[in-house]
Amino acid sequence: MSNLPHYQQQQQTVTFAYSQGAFQLTVLTPTIIRVFSNRGESGYSYAITGDKQQSTPFTLTTKDNHYELRTSALTVSLDVERHIDVYDAQGTPLVTDYRGERHLLDKGVDKVHQKLVEAEGHSATTQAAHDADYFQVVKNLASDEQLYGLGDKTGYLNKRGFEYDNWNIDYPDPQLEILPNIYKSIPVMLGLKNGHPYGLFFDNPYKSHLDLGKEDPHYYVYSAVAGNLDYYILGGHTLKDIVTAYTYLTGRTPLPQKWTLGYQQSRWGYSASQTEVQAVADNLKKYDLPCDAIHFDVDYMNGYRVFTWDHTEYADPQKFIARLKARGIKVVPIIDPGVKQDPDYPVYTTGVAQNYFVKTPTDEVYINKVWPGDSAFPDFGRPAVRQWWANNTKFLTDLGVAGIWNDMNEPASFDGEIPENTVFYDQDQPATHRKMHNVYGHNMAQATYEGLKQHQGKRPFVITRAAYAGTQKYATVWTGDNRSMWPHLQMMIPQLCNLGLSGFSFVGTDIGGFASDTSPELLTRWIEAAIFSPLLRNHAAMGTRRQEPWAFGEPTLSIYRKYLKLRYRFIPYLYDLFAQESHTGLPIMRPLVLNYPTDHRVQNLDDEFMVGDQILVAPIVQKSKRQRLVYLPAGEWVDFWNHQTYTGQQDIVVQAPLDKLPLFIKRQTLLPWGPAVDHIAETPDTSMTFQLFGDHGTYDHYQDNGSNFDYQNGQYNCYHLSVDPHQVSVTLTHHGFSAVYQTIHLALNDRVVTFTYDAQTTSYQQI
Ligand code: GLC
Repeated sequence: MSNLPHYQQQQQTVTFAYSQGAFQLTVLTPTIIRVFSNRGESGYSYAITGDKQQSTPFTLTTKDNHYELRTSALTVSLDVERHIDVYDAQGTPLVTDYRGERHLLDKGVDKVHQKLVEAEGHSATTQAAHDADYFQVVKNLASDEQLYGLGDKTGYLNKRGFEYDNWNIDYPDPQLEILPNIYKSIPVMLGLKNGHPYGLFFDNPYKSHLDLGKEDPHYYVYSAVAGNLDYYILGGHTLKDIVTAYTYLTGRTPLPQKWTLGYQQSRWGYSASQTEVQAVADNLKKYDLPCDAIHFDVDYMNGYRVFTWDHTEYADPQKFIARLKARGIKVVPIIDPGVKQDPDYPVYTTGVAQNYFVKTPTDEVYINKVWPGDSAFPDFGRPAVRQWWANNTKFLTDLGVAGIWNDMNEPASFDGEIPENTVFYDQDQPATHRKMHNVYGHNMAQATYEGLKQHQGKRPFVITRAAYAGTQKYATVWTGDNRSMWPHLQMMIPQLCNLGLSGFSFVGTDIGGFASDTSPELLTRWIEAAIFSPLLRNHAAMGTRRQEPWAFGEPTLSIYRKYLKLRYRFIPYLYDLFAQESHTGLPIMRPLVLNYPTDHRVQNLDDEFMVGDQILVAPIVQKSKRQRLVYLPAGEWVDFWNHQTYTGQQDIVVQAPLDKLPLFIKRQTLLPWGPAVDHIAETPDTSMTFQLFGDHGTYDHYQDNGSNFDYQNGQYNCYHLSVDPHQVSVTLTHHGFSAVYQTIHLALNDRVVTFTYDAQTTSYQQI
């Protein structure tokens, strides 16, 4: 006992005076405890905004050889050697320090063999030499321990057995299951240890590495090249609680504008010509394809200069954008961070004059190449630069754009990686690229979000490719440059589900595949699989085969149309899920393990997902397949297409001809069924339908203006619907938005029951 270090307690932070350096535990809430050791870095967190500490009772006691800090949900033990072990309230170990030696993988490869292996182009594992800034954290891994999260990493749902890097990169090559990293760094991991859930979030923007039982199945390792030791232990009764705690800490995807859930059409190259964009809009109409937006890729700019619009092709972009909008199609242009080095271009000259660009160590503006050629890079870590960028977005909002798509913000650079010692600011302190790289896209997204918010007064629609933990507060994400190949359709499911577990609910992939050439069958299966992905965008690279819904004629066109129309029917459900998500952080697209964490069958399930708690989707993600096995978890499930009922906890064989997406609704569910529209209307719906699957059900439905922030002042409505064998009812449980539905239809198995609104009593009467 006498060897235990002294400690000092200040409110909910306890600092232990170890000889290796002070070590702090901070109780933020009963389920969130921060572990911190200052290694000389500013403690500023880009992931966490505001004070997340809640007044929380806890006890600190001295045991024989350790301290024990206890909240109602978590117990942390800290011993003489600074081992930290975390248990849940029942004393079940969740996160415990590994006490043995690491068994490094490269021990078996000697120098001679390493050279041979490398001669053919392979890489032999070599443990890089570490400088003094390096540190590692090694935790025990149980034989029944599954690991999820980590953002956009490639591969499978369960991350156990793989290793990953956190370092954002532009990765145009085919993404394989073995890739350590792609565009985003979201160092949050969710564990299920012998069925018990926990989370670990490492808040450190420096390059870090996670070996999740690849090196040795008995431990996992987090290591970083530098930074503070700064991680959060997250507890709770269920995996859902962990997601809720994590998104409490790092923020939640705010309620989006409703139209952003509509279909979006894109292709790199369209926007080089107004005529071509017009033709796309005309075809969408001609082929009866609902759509809410066309994206404008880099070609609309004047010589790839950000915040400019080409006037040779577009006589009056503002007028053109307004014309599209009048037809229900909104415009979402891309922007890139690289600012063209051009003495006659005000964005560049202002940036130089104001010192807004990142600099070489000798104080020159740092230049690298991106689309515009030689370019400078705004130093988004600085608040003043973010405000400047936000001001610049006015150029686009004045033209009438509806959202902004941020790209190349890892940041990508064609002329080699930006040197580590390039000067990037960390807020108002000079720092390095090495430190600020992983938060570059995050800070650009925040700046763009602030700009849209200031200039439009609506809920900003920002899309970003690069991200860090917490970027979900500002932007929607897509998974970058995938390819038109079946493994990338397969990967969509675990990738979007893990993004969801990592706090990112508004996610999507490039439907049809971005690079390489799609095929009619792949495009068809992709739109089927993606129909519930919150961001629904078909996007392709210049030079690839065309992949608009009409590009292949029939039957692709009709099937594509059928699924787009189905998507619009489900938009009220998706919007309800977003309304809930903004309070709970629970994603829209969910791996089954989130809803059924104790069912071992779903802990490694990569080819099915759920939408909320009620819908199970089992897409065909393999070429030429016309049937598949579907695992149904506990409960009863109704086939969406023929209403046949199945009992859960079994595999069933489902026929899936090319036009069929296997889709199941949990029995005893009531779901909203939106109107058939060709885009989301600006005017509120006057009526809504709900469909029953089974013989009873209840549903809570949310309604607001779908556009601005009025809902934050109570201007929204909530409806509670209930169907049981004796009674059908509709109740307005919150009334703050004036455009209440005038009629509500409930589609029961054998009849439709209609209610009308009585303004006098603010209630519904059955007719
Ligand atoms: C990047 C983006 C892609 C875009 C292209 C051209 O590759 O990921 O979506 O089309 O740049 O701007």
